[in-house]
Amino acid sequence: MTAQLIDGVALSRTLRAGVAERAAALPRRPGLAVILVGEDPASAVYVRNKIKACGESGLHSVFEKYDADLAEDVLLARIAALNVDPAIDGILVQMPLPRHIDPQKVIAAIAPEKDVDGFSVLSAGELASGLPGLRPCTPFGCMKLIESTGQSLKGKHAVVIGRSNTVGKPMALLLLQANATVTVCHSGTADLAHHVRQADVVVAAVGRRNTVTADMVKPGAIVIDVGMNRNDEGKLCGDVDFAGVREVAGWITPVPGGVGPMTITMLLVNTLQAAETAQG
Ligand code: GUN
Repeated sequence: MTAQLIDGVALSRTLRAGVAERAAALPRRPGLAVILVGEDPASAVYVRNKIKACGESGLHSVFEKYDADLAEDVLLARIAALNVDPAIDGILVQMPLPRHIDPQKVIAAIAPEKDVDGFSVLSAGELASGLPGLRPCTPFGCMKLIESTGQSLKGKHAVVIGRSNTVGKPMALLLLQANATVTVCHSGTADLAHHVRQADVVVAAVGRRNTVTADMVKPGAIVIDVGMNRNDEGKLCGDVDFAGVREVAGWITPVPGGVGPMTITMLLVNTLQAAETAQG
C-alpha cells in the first residue's frame, strides 16, 4: 500500500481563505507584531514568511528588527507598548533569542490575550486544563492535518516523539483532548520502535532525520512529520524516512509541504481569534 499524502499547502490555502473572509468582516483588520532580534538566517526566513502570509490573508502586520546586542529591558519595554497598542492583536517574538535575553521573561511579558504563539504559562495551563485558549501553532496545525484525513481519534493510539514545550507536550494534550490514547516518547525512551509499532497516529518532532523508519510503522497509520532537517546533499527532510514509510503508512505528511505551511496558517488563525475576541 502507498500512503495518501496529507497536503499541508492545499489545506493551508483553504484555511487561509477562511481567515481572510473572517478578517474582512471585522470592523478593524487583525494586526500581528513580529519581533526579530539578531541575525539568525533561518529565523529571518521564517519571519519573512509570516509577514508575507499576513498580507496575503488581509491581516495588518508590523515587523520590528533589532541588533543581536539589544538590551533585554528595551525588548520588554517594546512588548509592554505593543500590549496596549489597539492596532495589535498578536505579538510574536521569534525564537531563539540571543543568549543574554531570557526567553521565559519575554514570553511572560506578552499580554496573554495577544500570545498568538500559545507559549505563555497561561496558554499552556488552559490547554492542560481543557479550557479554550490560544494553542501553539505547530501542534494545532498537526491536529488540522490529522482531522483532514477524516479519521476519528477516539479509541486510537497516538505516539508523540519529542517532549518540547512548543511541540511535543502540547501535541500530546491536543491528542488527548481529541480522545486518543497517548504515549510520549523522548530521548530517554528505552525502545522507541516498540512504542511506535503500536501507533495508529505517529507525530515525529525530534529534529533528527530517519528517526522513524518503515519497520517501525503499523500498516495504515497516520504519520505526521514535524522535523526540519537537512540530508547529506543539503536537501530539506523530516524526522521520518519518507520513501520507506510511505509504503507502509495510510497517510503521511511530506517535508516540505506538510506541517511547515500549517504552522504559519495557525498563527494567522490565532491572530484572527485574538482580534475577534478583542473586537467582541
Ligand atoms: N522559532 C521557531 N518556531 C517558532 C515559533 O513557532 N514561534 C516563535 N516565536 N519562534 C519560533
